[in-house]
Amino acid sequence: MCDLNDNSVGFMKIDKILENNKEWIQSRLSNDKDYFKNLSKGQKPKVLYIGCSDSRVTAEELMGAEPGEVFVHRNIANMISSIDLSAMSVIEYAVTHLEVDHLIVCGHYGCGGVKAAMESKDLGILNPWLRNIRDVYRLHSTELNKIENESERYKRLVELNVQEQCINVIKTAAVQKAYRNRGLKVYGWVFDINTGKLIDLKIDFEKIINNIMEIYHLD
Ligand code: CO
Repeated sequence: MCDLNDNSVGFMKIDKILENNKEWIQSRLSNDKDYFKNLSKGQKPKVLYIGCSDSRVTAEELMGAEPGEVFVHRNIANMISSIDLSAMSVIEYAVTHLEVDHLIVCGHYGCGGVKAAMESKDLGILNPWLRNIRDVYRLHSTELNKIENESERYKRLVELNVQEQCINVIKTAAVQKAYRNRGLKVYGWVFDINTGKLIDLKIDFEKIINNIMEIYHLD
């Protein structure tokens, strides 16, 4: 239904998107004639998903989630930067106003952003963005430099980047408050693009929050 890439001509068929949309409306209405009426009433998602913009790593589809179930933020290499007004606003709104119970940071193997950060290359405006990933490398360089196989090192950096972005999430006042007041949980996951599997990195959220609170405690 959603095949927008016509390989025979090599470009995306924009008209097909609008056709797909009509089909989608019909399929939703055939199951439930009040579907859009109910959808328009409001949202109460339980999950905030922060993932990569990579076109292969869709948020809802790979989780089997329906519209209304997941609040989503995606950017290159699923980064949480304290000066990124967009990411900070998403976290504030989802955690404080929508009161999500679960916050997932999801990276993926084969991430182009992480790969680019491992290379010595000037990428213009991407430099400051990717520098955050280089900082993750520097923080974990002892472990990473021991891994001789480059693709294994690359995979490990994807995982460590997720871990560090979870820590960045925990540094925000909104998350600290929601953790204490109503038990919000933070999860670090990796999507394995080779198998389709979502892998829980089993990041010890409670341990991290206790370890870093001495320095990052805000409230
Ligand atoms: Co990516």
